[in-house]
Parts: sequence; structure tokens; C-alpha cells
Amino acid sequence: MTSWIAPAKIILFGEHAVVYGEPAIAVPVASLKAEATVKPSTDGFKIIAHDMDAVIVRYDVSLIEEPLQRTLALLQQYTGKSLPDVEIHLRSSIPMASGLGSGAAISTALLRAVSSAMDADLSDEIVNSLVFEVEKIHHGTPSGIDNTVIVYEQPIFYVRNQPIERLSIARSFKLIIGDTGQKALTHVAVGDVRKLMETDPESTGKRVKAIGKIAVAARQAIETGKITDLGVLMHKNHHLLQELTVSSPDLDQFVEAALSAGAIGAKMSGGGRGGNMIALVTDDCAEAVANALRQAGAVHVFETTVA
Ligand code: PMV
Repeated sequence: MTSWIAPAKIILFGEHAVVYGEPAIAVPVASLKAEATVKPSTDGFKIIAHDMDAVIVRYDVSLIEEPLQRTLALLQQYTGKSLPDVEIHLRSSIPMASGLGSGAAISTALLRAVSSAMDADLSDEIVNSLVFEVEKIHHGTPSGIDNTVIVYEQPIFYVRNQPIERLSIARSFKLIIGDTGQKALTHVAVGDVRKLMETDPESTGKRVKAIGKIAVAARQAIETGKITDLGVLMHKNHHLLQELTVSSPDLDQFVEAALSAGAIGAKMSGGGRGGNMIALVTDDCAEAVANALRQAGAVHVFETTVA
């Protein structure tokens, strides 16, 4: 019995602007993960999805628009091999449709588990490109940031279609993630920003560029250990995302609650319109910020250290 694990992720800076070629920063969240365990099977290939009441999924090429099926189809196409006689037990502690990369993590763990049972050795680069193809189901036109940070399990400075740049973290820092519990469809928010870009290209373009500059400044702060500089950058980035219409009343309220409880900075994270926000905290205020978010209505509150 062997298991493959893929972490969740969170975007620190640059969401939405990254779709237009601006840089963004994302980090893995190792405390939340998707896991695929391989066991022998006596009745052919099957997936047992434990988070869906142990639903058994068989390969069915007619369901290619479904993420698990698409993952299996792409793997067979790439390797030229058929699915092995194994059971894959899938488990995930990552909330779905909330900007934590649950889809990309499940695809990554599944690809690694099935490919190893096939004796097919896939490089990270190949896994990344296959997960990107699956991401198109969720995101329409994904920038590729989610699959990249999850497959490589490293903090990244990401620019679409550019080689991956790993971030070096000069001083570790702590984030609290607050989940609104509102499932939000990233491709809808991305589509709305695209409409803004079409109807008001000048000011939308300026906002997108300003977000890119914030990501560059944030990289500098992270790589030189000037963590407190990130607070102002988070504030500015959140404001620009509000102007791009992708925040929500709950996300704004959570950001305010975190700042009032002493967070150094706070902003929405990911596609927006629901999903998650992040707060940058010190050890001293972490507990107070987590409690403030719970009081404001967060359905999950996670702490993660970026190191
Ligand atoms: O998957 P989410 O909710 O973290 O959003 C992805 C980030 C976007 O920039 C909004 C879209 C993309 O493809 O990069």
C-alpha cells in the first residue's frame, strides 16, 4: 500500500492580474492535503472517493468533462498504457471550490498514484502540464498558478508561460486563512474581470498592472525578510481586487475583522466572491485574529506558516 499526497495552496498576491500576464505569489499549505492510496484490486481499476461517502468511480470515457475522468484519460493518453488493476482510495481535507486548490491537489495525487501503479515515471513538469489540462474544467482559462504551486510544493513567483521561479523566504511568517464557506466559481469571477477589461480597458488595465507591481514589491519584501512591509501591500491589493468587483461583503468584513484584531495585513485570496481570505499575523495576535474570523462567521479557520 503506497500513498501520494498533494498540498493545498493559497495565493498571497496577484490573483486575477496573473491571468493577464502579471506576476503572482502563491504558497503551498501542507496542513491541508489530498491523498491517493493504491491497493490491489480483484475487479479492475476503480477509485473509492471517501469524501463522497466512498463512492466508487469506474473509468468512463464518456464522462470526460468530469475532473477525475479527465485526469485518467490524460494519463492513459500520455503514457499509452491502460489503467492498472488497482483500487485508488482518495481522501482530501481541502475544502472544495474555496480557492485552496482542492481540484488541482486531487488531480496531482491521483496522477502520481496511478502512474506509479502503471510503472510510468512522470516528471513534475509532465504532472504539472496534465493537471493544468484538468484545471481547464474548473477555471476555463486558468493561469496555471494553482497546479504549479501544488505540483512543485514550493512558494512561487509565477508569471504565466514563464519558467517557474521559486521564492526564497528570508524570514518565515504566519498566515491565518478564513473560509467564508461560500462556494465560488472561479471562472465566473475571471469572466467578469474579462468583461471589465473589454468595457473599460483603460482603468481595468491600470488596476491589473498595479496588482502586478504589488506582487513584485511583495517578492522583494519576502526575499529580504521585511515581512511588515507586506501589510500595506496586502491592503492595496485587496482594494484593487474590490475595484475589479471580485471581493464580496463577507470577504471585506473578514478583512476588517482581522485587521481590528491586530493582523499586520489582510486580503481576499483566490478567485473571490466567496472562498477565502488571508491575514498576516504575529505569534502574539494569531489567536485573536482566528477568533475574530470565527466570530465574523468563518466556517473554517486555518493557520499556516510560510517557510
Ligand atoms: O483557484 P483560485 O480561486 O485560487 O483562483 C485562481 C486564481 C485566479 O487568478 C483568479 C485565476 C487563475 O487562473 O489564475
